[in-house]
Amino acid sequence: MTPRTPVTTPAGATGTADTDDADSTDGTSSGTGTVAGATTFAGLTLDRHVHASDRAVNLARDVLGGLTANPRELPPKWFYDATGGMLFDEITRLPEYYPTRRERAILDDHASDIAAACPADTLVELGSGTSEKTRLLLDALRATGGLRKFVAFDVDESTLTQAGRSLIAVYPDLAVHAVVGDFERHLSHLPSGGRRLIAFLGGTIGNMRPAKRGAFLRALREQCGSTDALLLGTDLVKDPDRLVAAYDDGAGVTAAFNRNVLTVINRELGADFNIRGFAHVVHWNAADAWIEMRLRAVRDQQVTIDSLALAVDFQRGDDLLTEISAKFTRDRITTELADTGWAVAQQWTDPEGDFAVTLATPSTTPTAASV
Ligand SMILES: C[S@@+](CC[C@H](N)C(=O)[O-])C[C@H]1O[C@@H](n2cnc3c(N)ncnc32)[C@H](O)[C@@H]1O
Repeated sequence: MTPRTPVTTPAGATGTADTDDADSTDGTSSGTGTVAGATTFAGLTLDRHVHASDRAVNLARDVLGGLTANPRELPPKWFYDATGGMLFDEITRLPEYYPTRRERAILDDHASDIAAACPADTLVELGSGTSEKTRLLLDALRATGGLRKFVAFDVDESTLTQAGRSLIAVYPDLAVHAVVGDFERHLSHLPSGGRRLIAFLGGTIGNMRPAKRGAFLRALREQCGSTDALLLGTDLVKDPDRLVAAYDDGAGVTAAFNRNVLTVINRELGADFNIRGFAHVVHWNAADAWIEMRLRAVRDQQVTIDSLALAVDFQRGDDLLTEISAKFTRDRITTELADTGWAVAQQWTDPEGDFAVTLATPSTTPTAASV
């Protein structure tokens, strides 16, 4: 890789200082339960903790760090622009992609048990996407009579606002609060108050490495009161062939989703990735118990990224890791939760034992610092 002289980046992109504090100076709520500074349109309250300028700085920082690292790696959140959100939605309906169907089956069977165990007045969903399956939880919580508010939290504003508007149409009496934020940075901005059930579905927690998962779960625990609860969806370890197929579908939708990160970088950082110059590669890493999605250079090539004044050389066969998706055992879920201040209250799997949904409540106060 050839940093052209000198390597310059947008202000702050290379620094360690986060823009979190700047994010919250726009008058948005900061865990007070208020929504001062939030905008409300068509009945939807929208709170932004990621603004266009922060997005550019954060993307630049991640791309600079990721493409100059060895091995090269990008965080999976950058898949999710409007196109990435639509492609992921398509993935959830693919025959090979069992996790969404299995998690939905569990919620179909047990949403009322979940609502009985935690009759929350507020449902918070992290990495909410389309919030499709979440309707099962909303229905069950409404049946308990106490549900007042739904907080959808996602980094992808387009999918988030679309989902929020659909929910308002279906649940006109529900306060729907959409929060554009990064769950690795903005948990302290979650609206607080009342009794909250915090859902983190879709196996998204598996996109974090163990240390990051631990920090995330601790940080979330710190934000929770004694009556709040966490509902965690996790994919389980299984036959590697099925796992690989789930991320390498015959129709090529996951490949398009994977390559979308290059389109995002081209558009937002003025890069010239040739999308067809990279193949979608899926690998089961048995030692770490996770799926790896990679983009592999199909020929020698140089990519320039104007905003970073950076040129990166790829040799044929060079990989860029774009996502890990960890697969769990039930014991490991329980242990990781216990280590981070959570106690498993109940755990359900689908009849095939492919996926688990775990309800956990705060136990001890964790000691490590929050993210
Ligand atoms: C695998 S999808 C799951 C969507 C939905 N929860 C489901 O179960 O179908 C991951 C979702 O998390 C969002 N996401 C990814 N990284 C994020 C981050 N760091 N902060 C907030 N949202 C994030 C994506 O935009 C996407 O909607």
